[in-house]
Amino acid sequence: MIAIGSDHGGYALKQEIMRHLEERGIDYKDFGCYDESSCDYPIYARLVANEVAEGRCETGILICGTGIGISIAANKVPGIRAALCTDCFCAEATRQHNDANILCLGGRVVGPGLAIKIVDTFLDTPFSEDERHVRRISLIEQ
Ligand code: RB5
Repeated sequence: MIAIGSDHGGYALKQEIMRHLEERGIDYKDFGCYDESSCDYPIYARLVANEVAEGRCETGILICGTGIGISIAANKVPGIRAALCTDCFCAEATRQHNDANILCLGGRVVGPGLAIKIVDTFLDTPFSEDERHVRRISLIEQ
């Protein structure tokens, strides 16, 4: 199960991504926002991050205008490794190296075509399990 959320700046891109997840048969829960009225991204970051940190969802997707604010907010929750990605190389590397558990996107930065490729890359790439990456992640948690 994927937890997905956005503010107004990410709302339109979130609709495209949810449509894509449905086409792929991937289950998700939308934690808001539910229209394009101005709202506060930390609220949706916290809802999705708690869902992932507490194990109710394996992965999260968060979208704001730039992806920056919502990634900063999500990374405040212990156990969350939220990665802002603007290309597929970073999406692949952050899964392999950082075992990122939330993908952050900027709805005003990437178009829907690229965003969907980034989402697919993130969801389809496993963590490498390499000892050096496990060690580095555990150093982050200390
Ligand atoms: C909202 O205008 C915008 O500040 C927000 O979506 C995001 O880009 C913050 O980092």
